[in-house]
Amino acid sequence: MISRRRLLRLTALTSAGALLPSCGASGFDEAARQTWRHATQVPDQPVALLRELVRYATLAANSHNTQPWRFALDAGASAIAIQPDLSRRTPAVDPDDHHLWVSLGCAAENLALAGAAFGRRAELEFDQRIHVIRMFLRPVAPVRSPLFTAIPQRQCTRAEYDGQALSIAELRALASTASGPGVEVMLLTDRARIDAVTEFVIEGNSAQMRDAAFMQELERWIRFSDREAVATRDGLFARSSGNPAAPRWLGSLLLRLFFTETAENGKYARQLRSSAGVAVFVARSAQPAQWLEVGRAYQRFALLAASLGIRNAFVNQPVEVPPLRAQFARWLGIGGMRPDLVVRFGRGPLMPPSLRRPIDAVIGGPRALQAGIGRRLNDAAA
Ligand SMILES: Cc1cc2nc3c(=O)[nH]c(=O)nc-3n(C[C@H](O)[C@H](O)[C@H](O)COP(=O)(O)O)c2cc1C
Repeated sequence: MISRRRLLRLTALTSAGALLPSCGASGFDEAARQTWRHATQVPDQPVALLRELVRYATLAANSHNTQPWRFALDAGASAIAIQPDLSRRTPAVDPDDHHLWVSLGCAAENLALAGAAFGRRAELEFDQRIHVIRMFLRPVAPVRSPLFTAIPQRQCTRAEYDGQALSIAELRALASTASGPGVEVMLLTDRARIDAVTEFVIEGNSAQMRDAAFMQELERWIRFSDREAVATRDGLFARSSGNPAAPRWLGSLLLRLFFTETAENGKYARQLRSSAGVAVFVARSAQPAQWLEVGRAYQRFALLAASLGIRNAFVNQPVEVPPLRAQFARWLGIGGMRPDLVVRFGRGPLMPPSLRRPIDAVIGGPRALQAGIGRRLNDAAA
C-alpha cells in the first residue's frame, strides 16, 4: 500500500515533469519513421528482395508486439520459411499459442501482399509436423494493391472513435476481404449487440486484472518510455495506448496506482460506445493451420480499413478467458465453434505507432527452420 505522503510526492514529481513528453533525444520519432515506410525501390538482388519481404512481414499486427517469429531465406529457391519464436510466447494470456499462430498469419499476409507488389506470387504451405510455414515465391506481373499500399499506415488504434456509423458499402467491403478459407467474420453494428459485447469485454477484463500471472506478463511487455521502446523495439508502447511516457520505475508504480479495474473497464466502455461496430472472427476449426488463416483474414481487414481511413483495435477479453469464451460463443450462436478475435472499428485519430526489431534480429534461426525449406525442395526432387 502506498503512503499518503509518497502519493503526494509522486503527484508533485509527475506535475514537475517526471512524466516524459515524447522526446526527440530518445530517437523514437526517427525509429518510427524508419519502421513505417515503403521500400524506396524494388530490390534487384534475390537476397535483398527476400529481406525486404521479411521487413514488410514484421510490420504485421502481433499479440503484445512480442514479434514471435523467425524467418529463414533461401534465395536460390526463392522461398522464405517462417517459424514461431517460442522464447516470445505469452503463456498467461495465450496458453495454447492461439494468438501466436494468428500473429504469424498476419505476417504471412503482409509478406504475400508485398511479394505481389514486387512481382512474386506467394504459395503458402504449412508443415504441421515441424511447425514451419513455407512461402514459395513465383514470378508474376507486379500488383501494387491498396492493401499493400496501406501496410505502413496500419496500426491498432486504442483511442476513442467518433461514434459515427460506416456506410453499407464499407461494411460489405470489410466483410468480404476478411473472409478466407474456413474463416468468417461477423460484423455487429447495432447498439444493443455492441453493448452486449461490452459486457463480455468488461467481465473478461476484470478476470484478467485479478490474475497475477496475466498482470506480470503484461507489465513485462509494456515499454513505458520512448527510450525503452527504442532500446527493445518490441512490446506495448505506453503512448500507443494513450498513456504518458515515464521511466520504468515510475511507470510500474503508476500502473499499480491508476491501472485499476474500474478505470480500465470505464475506458473500454467508452471506447466501445465510440465505435461503429465490432468484428468477430470465427474459424471452422481450432487448430494452428486455421489460426494462420484467421491472422491472414484479420490482416486484410485491418489493411483495407486503414486504406479507407477506418481505425480498429482488438478487445479480445471475451475470447481470452476460457469459461467466458464458451458463453460468448453461445451468445453469438456459433455452437461449438471457437470465436477467435474480437475487434472494434470506426473512425478516429491515429495514435503514436509501435516499433519493430531490425530484420537481422529475426532472420536466420534454428537449423530446423533452415531445413524447413530444404525438406520441401528435397521432396519435390524425389
Ligand atoms: C492475435 C492478436 C491478439 C491481440 N490482442 C490484443 C488485445 O487483446 N488488446 C489490444 O489492445 N491489442 C491486441 N493486439 C494488438 C497488438 O498489441 C498490436 O498488433 C501490437 O502491439 C503491434 O502494434 P500495431 O498493430 O499497431 O503495429 C493483438 C494482436 C494480435 C495479432
